[in-house]
Amino acid sequence: HPQLTLDVQCGLMLEGVPLLAIADEMGTPCWVVSAGTLRARAGRLLGAMAQAGLSVSPHFAVKANDHLAVLEILGQAGFGADVVSGGELLRARKAGIPASRIVFSGVGKTDAELRLALAEGIAQVNVESAEELEILSGLAVQTGREMRVLLRVNPDVDAGTHAKITTGVAGNKFGVPWDEALELYRRAAALPGVRAAGYAMHIGSQILSAAPFRAAYARMAELVRATREAGLPVSVVDCGGGLGICYRDEGEGSPDAWAGAIRAELGGLDVRLAIEPGRWIAAPAGVLLSTVVLRKAVTGGAPFIILDAAMNDLLRPSLYDAWHGIVPLSPRDAVAEPEIAAVVGPVCESGDMFAQERSLPRLERGARVAVLDTGAYGAVMSSTYNARPLAAQVLVDGDRWSVIRARQGVEALWAEDIVPERIRSPV
Ligand code: LLP
Repeated sequence: HPQLTLDVQCGLMLEGVPLLAIADEMGTPCWVVSAGTLRARAGRLLGAMAQAGLSVSPHFAVKANDHLAVLEILGQAGFGADVVSGGELLRARKAGIPASRIVFSGVGKTDAELRLALAEGIAQVNVESAEELEILSGLAVQTGREMRVLLRVNPDVDAGTHAKITTGVAGNKFGVPWDEALELYRRAAALPGVRAAGYAMHIGSQILSAAPFRAAYARMAELVRATREAGLPVSVVDCGGGLGICYRDEGEGSPDAWAGAIRAELGGLDVRLAIEPGRWIAAPAGVLLSTVVLRKAVTGGAPFIILDAAMNDLLRPSLYDAWHGIVPLSPRDAVAEPEIAAVVGPVCESGDMFAQERSLPRLERGARVAVLDTGAYGAVMSSTYNARPLAAQVLVDGDRWSVIRARQGVEALWAEDIVPERIRSPV
């Protein structure tokens, strides 16, 4: 984390800003994202592609972090957007990303979402089934528009990652089965309202080695050749996202190795290439600030450190057993005697925990911590479970910081509830 440093006087700093100052002023829980880190990582990824001699259209996977400020920063860095809902599409547009740089993925796009894609004139729809293809063609004809279509194929390659974030093996709901892809492409080429332009794939997330990418792209190249041999043109290949980061000690996915895999398998095909990275760019850019509500002693065992952040804020540890670093903000806490503790949230679920048997400097009631690498799949996966308002969000840029989302007010939690009259005044 080059942008995250420990200063002997100020404690943990993100870029030039002491995180304690943000926690004190904003209260906790509070998400903080570093603009400098986003820019640096976006640039590093594009640099790796260029270095490999590849010209790719980069689309940030909006699901990883859909804040308008994040999307604007990445739009300025040259990224388009990969969206999976009408809401994400409109967010990307609102953040100034041109429709011509937006691609739409997802297994269950509604008619309304497909109509929106047609009306906005986005770059392409990545179609995931025969049924969706027919529906899109019908809607395009109805509205007098044409849409570029890539078929998302399922290459049946195991990404070697957590089962809940593996998407490219047979039996997943994602994509068109490998051996049906060419026939469906032929159908797409014949249908009105859609222009079959190529293939897309995404095999999973938090992938650390180039091997699964390479295996999947090799199959993709095979499919492109077979399609061309069948007399059908192919001009675009979308390589998906999935490059992983180092949460603990697993090492970070290498943009150069990823670019190398793309070049080795797809570089000679004379197609336009696209990528859809999310996590690699955004995860290390963000932290979640939290305060120790209390220490709960356990006779003969490790104490519970109970935070004011919970699974409703950061779901990843509960959902995927994900490991996130936890670091004290104050310089004094950082050097406290280490102990083994369990770090949990206050929500009424045993699964509401951030770390089990973790060695940490001893944290007293009131101590502040940062949960690391939460810039991707963090705030976007929050809920208001247990009537806990959504946390505030802050953007750090150099030595300045600004609030980019106010803490949700508690009234907002019930503002849209409607109590029927009959219940309010029973007859
Ligand atoms: N493209 C498509 C079609 C996707 O489904 C995804 C992620 C991406 C791109 C971006 O993948 P990335 O580069 O971020 O790995 N909530 C989970 C991750 C779910 C990823 C879903 N798809 C987590 O917190 O680990």
